[in-house]
Amino acid sequence: MKVTIVGAGAVGASCAEYIAIKDFASEVVIVDIKENFAEGKAMDLMQTATLNGFDTKITGSTNDYSKTANSDVAVITSGIPRKPGMTREELIGINAGIVQTVAKSILEHSPNVIFIVVSNPMDTMTYLTHKALGLPKNRIIGMGGALDSARFKYRLAEALDCPASDVDGMVIGGHSDTGMIPLTRLAVRNSVPVTKFLSEERLQEVAEATKVGGATLTKMLGTSAWYAPGAAVSSLVQSIVCNQKKMFPCSAMLEGEYNLNDICIGVPCIIGKNGIEEIVSIDLSEAESDKLQNSAEAVRKTNGLLEEVLS
Ligand code: 2OP
Repeated sequence: MKVTIVGAGAVGASCAEYIAIKDFASEVVIVDIKENFAEGKAMDLMQTATLNGFDTKITGSTNDYSKTANSDVAVITSGIPRKPGMTREELIGINAGIVQTVAKSILEHSPNVIFIVVSNPMDTMTYLTHKALGLPKNRIIGMGGALDSARFKYRLAEALDCPASDVDGMVIGGHSDTGMIPLTRLAVRNSVPVTKFLSEERLQEVAEATKVGGATLTKMLGTSAWYAPGAAVSSLVQSIVCNQKKMFPCSAMLEGEYNLNDICIGVPCIIGKNGIEEIVSIDLSEAESDKLQNSAEAVRKTNGLLEEVLS
């Protein structure tokens, strides 16, 4: 199976590294516009093959999409990351044009590809990819919920003072500081609801820390994070390539699910060889439903800027 990653920045390179280390894809092609940058990252990664014990072939290309031909999965990380103090939404002006061009170039060479969109504002970039390409909705997946849920589990484990592998939980809604909805009601520690161990107040703190997870790291690092985003993308790619049918919250095009239409936003999805195999409808409480509708309103507002920034 062949995977293309567009953008050899920190997220793209981490994603390539995790895919290689897990050794489930035969080939990874990294593309970047910066002369020789993707080639250099690919060479550096290939020189870890004997040390890390993988057979995945990683190559780089400076903007030559013919090298990506017949990819099964393509990950779009291109565009600029946010700087401290910026929201993801502020990146739309620069990233929309880049994402649209990249998506079209990939499809030209890989007619059956499944897209994973990572560039921010992610829900709007996923929506844009749908509108620009007109593909069936299962073939375009927005990465956000997988990352946000990993951050939620990290914060839960911290609050519970237990290993992260002991906890499970999910974040739905928009991939933004205010739009994320950590589902504290459904989170568990080894099948016991976390509400049994943590006060409502502590759970609120966990939820708030989760929502600003990306912003907290951007402030600490001076640019946006890469290890957890790269790992989240590689898990989605693996679920597609190995047809694992794992459930992740992903930004999916909704057509009536959760009472939402013509919008991409994070909801639980089964991810397999066809991309989004199924959008899972879970029963939300009234408060959770209200939050999802509000989150969708904010995403719609950002989607509304697309026409202006693309014209
Ligand atoms: C993050 O939350 C990159 O949006 C991504 O770190």
